[in-house]
Amino acid sequence: MEQSTSGTVATPASRPDYDMDIVKKFFTATVVWGIVGMLVGVVIALQLAWRPANLGLPWTTFGRLRPLHTNAVVFAFGGNVVFTGIYHSMQRLLKTRMWNDTLSRIHFWGWQLIIVAAAVTLPLGLTQSKEYAELIWPIDVAITLVWVVFAVNFFATVAIRKVEHMYVAIWFYMSFVITIAVLHIVNSLVIPATLFRSYPIYAGLTDALVQWWYGHNAVGFFLTTPFLGLMYYYLPRAADRPVYSYRLSIIHFWALVFLYIWAGPHHLLYSALPDWAQTLGMVFSIMLIAPSWGGMLNGLLTLKGAWDRVRTDPILKFMVVAVSFYGMSTFEGPMMSIRAVNGLAHYTNWVIGHVHSGALGWVGMISFGMLYWMVQNIWNRPLAYPSWASHHFWLATIGIVIYTVAMWAAGLMEGLQWRALDDAGRLANPIFLDITHRLNPFLWLRVVGGSMYLVGAVMMGINFWKTIRGPSAPAGARVEGV
Ligand code: HEM
Ligand code: HEM
Repeated sequence: MEQSTSGTVATPASRPDYDMDIVKKFFTATVVWGIVGMLVGVVIALQLAWRPANLGLPWTTFGRLRPLHTNAVVFAFGGNVVFTGIYHSMQRLLKTRMWNDTLSRIHFWGWQLIIVAAAVTLPLGLTQSKEYAELIWPIDVAITLVWVVFAVNFFATVAIRKVEHMYVAIWFYMSFVITIAVLHIVNSLVIPATLFRSYPIYAGLTDALVQWWYGHNAVGFFLTTPFLGLMYYYLPRAADRPVYSYRLSIIHFWALVFLYIWAGPHHLLYSALPDWAQTLGMVFSIMLIAPSWGGMLNGLLTLKGAWDRVRTDPILKFMVVAVSFYGMSTFEGPMMSIRAVNGLAHYTNWVIGHVHSGALGWVGMISFGMLYWMVQNIWNRPLAYPSWASHHFWLATIGIVIYTVAMWAAGLMEGLQWRALDDAGRLANPIFLDITHRLNPFLWLRVVGGSMYLVGAVMMGINFWKTIRGPSAPAGARVEGV
């Protein structure tokens, strides 16, 4: 059974008056925050390779800039890009304008204000010290309020839709809206002490379990499900092909959301968490390969008949590499969830390599592909510098390979040298710092790979700036590459 996204998209003649202004706002914020977040990534990569880059100031040390990087790339870049795609595609898929324009704007400005508040408080050292949930409680309250505004507008738009069928992308978006709300509220429950300080209501092991149930599902429902929704909408549109198997996309959705939510304990292997709970996390993580690879294959097979265009069209190139990295990181993740493998990988740069093959390879590349497709479509202009899009693609792809291969090599070296024993059964490398020093060449390679990725993103920003300010295509003309 095959179903085309274009089957549910209005023709220009019947197209309702969609709110494109909100899409353009989120689009612009995505590009700006993406470049800022990646720049901070390169700075902290440099700090790990070359200590003086910490500048000797408390506000600019690695410990404070690291959460700034993660919050900027995940919630500012990742969040804004997902909102861009959702506001653009859901109006078309449901053939209706967003339910309430004011709510859309409160969502936009509220989210940007939260990002600015994070960018001020994190360098000041104001933090709850929980990874991906560092922000202090007043900002957590603001996130909840803005999310409720978004959710009300989202579901009201679903309710007033002009088509009965809800395309699979909408299901992926719905799981994102609901699950992130639940995760954020449950993990952020604290007792405020002052304006900047609070005490978590959980303690010890319960705190760790709730945190990693949240942390893992932040990956699953912030960096995966909404991006899969984007893949199911924008890949068929960019390739001008129907989704390979609509039935597989539905199985992909239900299996993924059912399995993901149980996998959190793979972050707590060899901890005080009861063995059965660790095993549960491991087994569910391994089962996750099936829906993940089903989705990857569905994405790649959608290109059947369009592979000749992949050689020349940078948008499709970005998307193919993104889907391939999705497949790679969702194979690596389950392997790392196996206790024995995790014993080697945990605490090492291998985890950082895994994170960035997912983040740069999957999240970054599918976003770039979508943004290049969208800029021409919503501003109705051809790209100002089409060849730059190709240069960006190669810079990013080679940059990711350098980054991740360096981290995998560094991680394996660390893991093996930490546990190596000499003939007498003593530690072969008793001085921990010796191993840390041996990491340096790999850390410099990461600076190189990360800088290439950043330069590509800056080129994209300039290209978009010139495109948006350039002359629009003649009325009714089909923009090249779209
Ligand atoms: C120019 C590109 C980037 C560079 C150079 C970079 C660099 C870094 C560095 C140096 C760290 C700290 C590693 C450590 O503590 O040992 C880090 C952590 C992290 N980065 Fe990036 N990054 C980049 C882009 C991104 C993007 C686009 C995303 C997400 C979409 C991302 C997500 C993360 C996450 C989630 C962590 C925390 C990993 C963990 O705790 O295991 N990064 N990054
Ligand atoms: C089937 C899918 C996946 C599974 C089973 C999985 C499993 C894992 C495991 C076992 C770890 C290491 C935990 C540790 O030892 O501390 C990990 C870390 C991580 N993974 Fe994945 N992974 C998957 C897919 C992905 C994808 C697609 C992304 C990014 C888009 C991603 C992002 C991360 C991040 C950010 C961390 C670091 C968390 C932290 O310690 O701060 N994972 N994952």
